[in-house]
Amino acid sequence: MSEIILAIESSCDETAAAIIKNGTILSNIIATQSIHEKYGGVVPELASRAHQQNIIPVVEEALNTAKVAKNEITAVAYTKGPGLLGALLVGAQFAKSFAYAMNLPLIGVHHMHAHILAHFIDEPRPEFPFLCLTVSGGHTQIVLVRGFLDMEVIGQTRDDAVGEAFDKSAKMLNLPYPGGPLVDKLAQNGNPQAYQFSKTDVPDYDYSFSGIKTSVLYFLRDKEKHTPGFTKKHQADIAASVQAALVEMLMQKLRRASEKLGIQSIAIAGGVSANSGLRNAVKKEGELQNWQVYIPAFEYCTDNAAMIAIAATYKYQAGQFESISSSPNPRLPF
Ligand code: KG4
Ligand code: ZN
Repeated sequence: MSEIILAIESSCDETAAAIIKNGTILSNIIATQSIHEKYGGVVPELASRAHQQNIIPVVEEALNTAKVAKNEITAVAYTKGPGLLGALLVGAQFAKSFAYAMNLPLIGVHHMHAHILAHFIDEPRPEFPFLCLTVSGGHTQIVLVRGFLDMEVIGQTRDDAVGEAFDKSAKMLNLPYPGGPLVDKLAQNGNPQAYQFSKTDVPDYDYSFSGIKTSVLYFLRDKEKHTPGFTKKHQADIAASVQAALVEMLMQKLRRASEKLGIQSIAIAGGVSANSGLRNAVKKEGELQNWQVYIPAFEYCTDNAAMIAIAATYKYQAGQFESISSSPNPRLPF
């Protein structure tokens, strides 16, 4: 019997739905909320409202694209957390109502597990165990992945996520939200060695990005005071230097974890894994260290429902279902 799962993702500012049939993605639809751009960051209340407006059209499009009828669905999955509570509630409530009406099992998926399991959507699929550097707007983690449902965070940020560091640096460069991809684009025409920023070091495999953010802020403030217009004039070099510093911080701990644990299968995941500087650094390091490197397709880096769908497939197969009275958790433990 075939298993067809409808998966919903609504943890932040993308409303997304996907259909997966026996592990194959049939559709993957995303509505990105542009409303947040003018506020320079995600406004939770507005995100919830936009999810509310988008959810049914997005699900409808996912069903139509997949050429699957509602009554062919065999399970419904949703992002249980972490994320913004109001945003999560919209996806959870929709999934629960659908499951209740159609009498289907419900699957709650951890957003960060899903980012990692996105590596199993297409070939080449990593072999266990592997290390995954999961880098997004809310998280920065090094995860030891032993199995589809067996993962452990071995290092993480103690303050800002690296995506936040990209977005906040972008703001200082007067770029709109979300600035990470714009820093990436500017960096391609800049000199990564033009400026040095001080980096905070923390022990083990942990990270800290608040120091470098402050260092960029003070550097630009000082330059503007003496040379007004400096930021605009040197935007590309600043972007390239910030990106190089952030990527080097990420790589340093990843290298250390790989060496200490003797694991040479290395993956990256999450929104920041779309960054060209990081993708190149991991590839280059892979050649030097003889790593097997896994870099997700662009469409599976930033938030999407295909990753929720693949994660749900493994939970479905393991019989891990969610009670109809469960509710999302904005701080869902890993
Ligand atoms: O995984 P994601 O879509 O959402 C969260 O779960 O947070 O990650 C979004 C983050 C944002 O901070 C965004 O600026 C960053 O990923 N991002 C990038 C790039 N594309 C997305 N950062 C740097 N370079 C990129 N190309
Ligand atoms: Zn994410």
